[in-house]
Amino acid sequence: MPFVNEKTYQRYVQEGREEEFHKLFEEGLKKVSEELGREYPILLGDRELKTREKIEVRSPIDTSLTLGIFQKADSSLVKLAVSNAKDAFRDWRDSDWKDRVEFTVRAANELRRMKYELAATITYENGKIRTESVAEVDETIDYFNYYAQVLEENRGYVKEMEGRIYKNERGVSVMRPYGPWLIISPFNFPLAITATMALGALITGNTVVIKPSSDTPLSAFKLVQVLRRAGFPADAINYVTTPGEEVSRVLETDLNVAGFAFTGSREVGHRLLKVFVNLRPRPAVLELGGKNATVVTVKADLKKAVEGTYRGAFGFDGQKCSATSRVFVEEGVYEEFLRRLKARADTTQIGDPRQRTTFMGPLINKQALEKFRKFVDQALSEGGKVLVGGKVREDTKTYLVEPTVITDVPYTSSLWKTELFVPIVLVKSVRNLEEAVRLVNDVDYGLTAGIFSEDEREVEYFFRNVEAGVVYANREVGSTTGAMPGVQPFGGWKDSGLTGRNAGGPYYLLSFLREQARTTY
Ligand code: ALA
Repeated sequence: MPFVNEKTYQRYVQEGREEEFHKLFEEGLKKVSEELGREYPILLGDRELKTREKIEVRSPIDTSLTLGIFQKADSSLVKLAVSNAKDAFRDWRDSDWKDRVEFTVRAANELRRMKYELAATITYENGKIRTESVAEVDETIDYFNYYAQVLEENRGYVKEMEGRIYKNERGVSVMRPYGPWLIISPFNFPLAITATMALGALITGNTVVIKPSSDTPLSAFKLVQVLRRAGFPADAINYVTTPGEEVSRVLETDLNVAGFAFTGSREVGHRLLKVFVNLRPRPAVLELGGKNATVVTVKADLKKAVEGTYRGAFGFDGQKCSATSRVFVEEGVYEEFLRRLKARADTTQIGDPRQRTTFMGPLINKQALEKFRKFVDQALSEGGKVLVGGKVREDTKTYLVEPTVITDVPYTSSLWKTELFVPIVLVKSVRNLEEAVRLVNDVDYGLTAGIFSEDEREVEYFFRNVEAGVVYANREVGSTTGAMPGVQPFGGWKDSGLTGRNAGGPYYLLSFLREQARTTY
C-alpha cells in the first residue's frame, strides 16, 4: 500500500467537519481526566514491578492534578531490564521481517483507534494544544506506516551480491540488528519521538528498554501497550521510569547495552555518548536540539514570513527542537516585519490548552519558567529591547509566559548561540542574503532553517549554503517546524545529530542495523 500521511486536522477542516474534531478531542480529554492519579508499574516483559520510591507526575496545565504515580528505578533495575531485553533478542533478531511489518501496521491502526485519548494524554502531560497533540499522534502513526513501507521496499534488507571471484561463489548482504537498545526520550514529543526511536530499533529486529522523560512517562506507557497488543513480544519492549543519572550509570557500565537512542539537549547527549563509547565503540542515534534560524529577504511575502515566524517561534511555546529562535531580516523590510510580527504576537491567546482557543499553553515546569525569566533579564541587561512579551503570567498552578520578541541583542551575546527552549525569538537586521546565511551557519547546531523569499534563485542559494538537516522555503505553518514522516525526514547536522539519517526518512532504519556479508560455495 502506498504511504499516506494521517493529517487528521487538515482533513476535518477540508471536509468542513471541524466541530466533530473538537468533539472527539473533548471526549479524549474526558477519558484521560477520569484516569488521573493512577499508579503505573515498570514493565519487564510480562512482569509488572513496583519500587519503594515513586515519581509523582503533576500536569503542567494544573499542578494540582496528579497525572500518575510512576516507579523510580535505580540503575540495577534498569540493568535487569536490559538483561531481559538481551534474552528476548535471541528470538526477536531472527523473526521474519514480514511479521515485523505486519505488527507495525497493526500498531498504526491501534494508534488511530486511540487517537484522541492519546492526544489528550499528551495535552495533560506536557501542555500541548489540541491541534498539535493530535498532530503528534498523526506523526506517530505516520512513522509506523512509513517504516513498515521502508522495510517492505527493501525486502528486509537482504541483497544478493552480483560480483563473483570464484566460479561457485555466492554472496549475500544481510543487514542485521545489534541487540538491546536503550531508548531515552524527551518531554516535548512524548509519544512521537519515543515511537520513532523505539520502533526504529524494534522493526529492524533489536529489542528495547524505553526510558521516558520523568515529566511525561504516560504516553510512552500507553505506546508500549499498543505495541504489545499489535503482536510485538512483551520481552522485546521493556519500560522503566528512572532519573537520568541512573541511565547514565547504565550506559557507562553495562556492556549488555548494544546501542542507545537519545533525543534531548546537546550537553546531555554528548555526555552520554562519551561515557557510552568509553567501554567499547557502540552505535548511538542522537538528536540534540537546535538554534534554528529564519531568513526574511526583501523579496519575501511578508504576510507569509510573519505568520511562519510567529508559528515557528511560539508554537508549543518554543519547546520544539525545531523552534525558530533567530530571525535575520534584510534591512529594507526590517521595520515593517517587526511591526507586523508585533501585531500578530499581540493577538496570542495564552492559557489552558484544554480550551479550544488557546494558542500557547504552559511551559513544561518551573525550571523552564525560571529559564525564561533568566534569558529575558540577560537580554535586557545586555542592551536588548523587548518588542513583545517578556513577562511571566503569575499563576501558582501553571507556568504561563508571553510570546517574546527581542531586538538589539548584541551579536556577542551568548543568547545568539544557546538553545533557549522557551518562546523567545531574537531578531536582527542584515545587509543581504549572504550575510544572513553566514549568521545562520554561525552556531554549533544545524537542525532546521527557513527562508522567506519569492525569488527562486535566493531560495536555491540558501538551500545550497545553509548547514542544516531540514530546510524550508516559505513555510507559513511554522517556518522551521512541523516536519512529518515521509514528507520531511527530520534530523540534524553538526552538533544537532549524529547519524546523518533523518527520522521519518528512507535511511533512518539503517542506523539500527549492521551489515553481515555472507558467502557460500
Ligand atoms: N517533527 C517535529 C518538528 O519538526 C520535531 O517540529
